[in-house]
Amino acid sequence: MRAMTSEPVPRDQLERILDAAAHAPNAGNRRLQRLVVIDDAATLRVLRMVSPGMLQHPAAAVVICIDVARAVEYGLPATSSGLLIDVGTAAQTMLLAAHALDLGSGPVTSFSKAAVSTVLNLPARWSPELVVCLGHAASTQPSPVGPHRRLTWRDLSYWGRLDRNANTVAGS
Ligand SMILES: Cc1cc2nc3c(=O)[nH]c(=O)nc-3n(C[C@H](O)[C@H](O)[C@H](O)COP(=O)(O)O)c2cc1C
Repeated sequence: MRAMTSEPVPRDQLERILDAAAHAPNAGNRRLQRLVVIDDAATLRVLRMVSPGMLQHPAAAVVICIDVARAVEYGLPATSSGLLIDVGTAAQTMLLAAHALDLGSGPVTSFSKAAVSTVLNLPARWSPELVVCLGHAASTQPSPVGPHRRLTWRDLSYWGRLDRNANTVAGS
């Protein structure tokens, strides 16, 4: 959802969404993601100022961070793909939990990491990776972004072994 009302999200619903994130699939069950909840209007306003891709005015936001130093202590490179995949599973699980609670939600990665770290006083060892915006969906929504029609599963999926010479341009 990229348009939200100003109605607040109750604390108990935020906690249920965080609980869902804590149950998301996680590589090696290491749990290197940290969730920072922002639900006060002043901090949300500043967060939006450093997030050009945050088109909605959320009533709350969860900033998913990676504890990079902890990852390195585990022997993982800071660039390990699993760290970002786990950000994705946590985010998607929160989006689904929000939907189940009749809330609107939207992921945002278009923000300045340095500015978000400063605004939220994040420890230097944490890297903010994705913001899940939460709120009550407005009755009208902007059109979806992107240049193409919505691709279907048929455009994106292949059965069995591929023919290397076949046309594999999705949607063509
Ligand atoms: C990793 C990631 C980053 C995203 N960042 C943004 C963002 O910064 N701003 C935004 O409006 N939407 C963002 N989105 C949402 C996508 O634009 C959206 O999921 C996609 O356009 C599909 O739209 P739909 O959910 O309406 O099908 C992001 C999604 C993902 C998975």
